[in-house]
Amino acid sequence: MDEITRSVNMLYERYPYPSLPIRNERDLVSKLHANVMSKILSTAELEPRSLCGKEVLDAGCGTGEKSCYFSYHGASVTALDLSSSSLAAGRRLAEKFKLKVDFNQCDIAEFKTEKKFDHIFCLGVLHHTSDPCMRFHVLAGLCKPGGTITVGLYNRYGRFIHRARRLWIKLNAGEDIQKRMSFVETSIYRGKFKNTHEQAYAADKYANPYESYHSVGEVIGWFNKNNITYIGSHPHTGTGKLQTFLSELKWLIKRNGFFIISGRKN
Ligand SMILES: C[S@@+](CC[C@H](N)C(=O)[O-])C[C@H]1O[C@@H](n2cnc3c(N)ncnc32)[C@H](O)[C@@H]1O
Repeated sequence: MDEITRSVNMLYERYPYPSLPIRNERDLVSKLHANVMSKILSTAELEPRSLCGKEVLDAGCGTGEKSCYFSYHGASVTALDLSSSSLAAGRRLAEKFKLKVDFNQCDIAEFKTEKKFDHIFCLGVLHHTSDPCMRFHVLAGLCKPGGTITVGLYNRYGRFIHRARRLWIKLNAGEDIQKRMSFVETSIYRGKFKNTHEQAYAADKYANPYESYHSVGEVIGWFNKNNITYIGSHPHTGTGKLQTFLSELKWLIKRNGFFIISGRKN
């Protein structure tokens, strides 16, 4: 395990993400759909019912809410993550709703399977790894021809103001995760995190030891190298170099720190 992977894993072992409060079927299905899944699926031109019977890979599944959502809609789901505590939370969630998800503990870079997938999702993961492009290549190799691959990444421009905040936290609290969390809790969350999800969100956002920043054009470059055709992105940018650059510049003000982009394997 390289130093980046080790330190990132330490964070998610302590603060499994996203640790959403999923109390009932409505939280898992309609709320999750309205809050996040509708954007993710529509970027790949998918609908919940189109997942039925499909092989889905959730790479870097965290606490497994999205994996369970895919399984609820009838997909055969393989999920993987580095963090054992996140996977344990995912397994508990699947058990609670009697859903089948094949959870695996490993680095994307080392994932071995005979399977090929119809739909691959890797959301909020690659920018916490030492070599996002190499891991994207591994995922692309697991995608069936005609299948889709959807990644969510921090944006180079949209994350600009946030980076200044991270620097401020680092100057005040140093590198130690616990010190950063105490500082964040006091200075940003008025002394107390409301619940586990808020704490996990703060850890991911403010105490993460490593994150990298990417552009739509860069990911389209990864697509081209891996025989993948662009389908769509959220927020929408199009594909022309100038068009994507101008859209992303706007994210500087709108603070769209995270973008989702989907492609289809040829
Ligand atoms: C921000 S969370 C995203 C979780 C989930 N994908 C979501 O959308 O809610 C990032 C997750 O990626 C996992 N992760 C980070 N590096 C990884 C790697 N190299 N291989 C597999 N999982 C990794 C972390 O353990 C963590 O659970």
